Amino acid sequence: MAEFKEAPAGAPALTQATVWLQNRFPTAFDAYKVHMSEYYAPKNMNFWYFFGSLSLLVLVIQIVTGIFLVMHYKPDAAKAFESVEYIMRDVPWGWLVRYMHSTGASAFFICVYLHMFRGLIYGSYRKPRELVWIFGCAIFLCLMAEGFFGYLLPWGQMSYWGAQVIINLFGAIPFVGPDLSLLIRGDYVVGDATLNRFFSFHVIAVPLVLLGLVVAHLLALHDVGSNNPDGIEIKAKKDPKTGIPLDGIPFHPYYTVHDIVGVSVFLMIFSAVIFFAPEMGGYFLEHNNFIPADSLKTPLHIAPVWYFTPFYSMLRAVTDDMVNVFVVIAGLAGVAAFLLAGLKGLWKFVPLVAAVVLAVLLKTFDAKFWGVVVMGGAVLILFALPWLDNSPVKSIRYRPQWNKVLYGIFVVFFFVLGYLGIKPPSVVGTLVSQVGTIFYFGFFLLMPWWSRIGEFKPLPDRVTFQPH
Ligand code: HEM
Repeated sequence: MAEFKEAPAGAPALTQATVWLQNRFPTAFDAYKVHMSEYYAPKNMNFWYFFGSLSLLVLVIQIVTGIFLVMHYKPDAAKAFESVEYIMRDVPWGWLVRYMHSTGASAFFICVYLHMFRGLIYGSYRKPRELVWIFGCAIFLCLMAEGFFGYLLPWGQMSYWGAQVIINLFGAIPFVGPDLSLLIRGDYVVGDATLNRFFSFHVIAVPLVLLGLVVAHLLALHDVGSNNPDGIEIKAKKDPKTGIPLDGIPFHPYYTVHDIVGVSVFLMIFSAVIFFAPEMGGYFLEHNNFIPADSLKTPLHIAPVWYFTPFYSMLRAVTDDMVNVFVVIAGLAGVAAFLLAGLKGLWKFVPLVAAVVLAVLLKTFDAKFWGVVVMGGAVLILFALPWLDNSPVKSIRYRPQWNKVLYGIFVVFFFVLGYLGIKPPSVVGTLVSQVGTIFYFGFFLLMPWWSRIGEFKPLPDRVTFQPH
């Protein structure tokens, strides 16, 4: 045990209390140093770096409002809908708590999507931050599960039928599908058993995992240090005497104060939505969800909430024709690898054999199953990003100019896919989402090739920073 320190005689009560705590809980003081006052973050972090702390803030808002909602919510198929109405109309401030939680769900995804996009443009997923990124991707998966489980709880028409559609998707998995969807549902139709297990996952299981992952995410980040908009490592240039990075500033007070700006702007927008447009025209709270769940009345159009729709669009894009396109792409990729990969001996034939096996598999299972694979693959491919990018620089600032256009098209397609996922299917819509899906996967799968071509700008010696 470390030696006990003594507060100087006659020291103020606060100093005495601090010394008392330091003697009994030194770990907390060490952690404060390591993660706050002596965590040196690059001095050039810009507004994109607000979204990590904002995600953390929304996580806290969701947990706190969730705790209050659970005090009045009833996870019972016969009472759930009316218990939410009760919260909205009779519980003092219940409407505010509920709107904070429902708006918080959308805010969470907005912050996390922007946070991920920042990682994408500044190459924050690259060495040595691969694990930070992987924890982030796992958080994203958990967040999707959390959103999905939570959406069933108000037990409105969209909750009910949305869950029905998504659970049925699991049924498309060969061999185990039907049993798996039965296991998730807990019954042959979505019902009380489903509501109870979704409630349990939503309020305890997933949040626990989420919290653990967020802690791991931040610990891993603080072990390797933050990236920055220039994508150069500040640890490469340290003060020889102190060992502190020359371009690093202590997280506290500099970034704690900096983040207050982001938090203030966020809270203004967040409050404006809660007070003036909590349903956001049906995007944050869908109109059909104000009708109690009815297993005998299928709504005309079932759509997930906006944050799932880019992936939902990809699922719907996989029609029989699209599977044929995949067969052609697999064939062309196999032939290209056979001719160009420079493999020797029997290895030369591996790409051709792989292409044939893939084509046979593609035609063996139906399009619905491949839709599920594409939807899941669209999220899972993010885990591989650190190993797909071969660019000699991290940040988009020093990549060839056309990379910006490519990232721009990626964003536009992501929005278009999101929009199409909300709308009922149409011939043109399906075609556009098929092109969008191919672009999305092409962007990642061809990244090992395109990320290394073009003219790269020279990296600066130190981070670029203009004090304001
Ligand atoms: C609950 C959700 C999340 C929370 C609370 C969270 C929190 C944070 C915080 C506080 C930071 C440091 C500040 C900053 O760089 O903005 C950070 C950094 C980072 N996060 Fe997250 N994060 C979340 C989700 C994600 C997701 C989904 C990904 C990616 C798939 C991700 C990838 C990263 C990366 C790569 C960094 C390092 C960025 C850099 O140094 O340039 N995070 N995160």
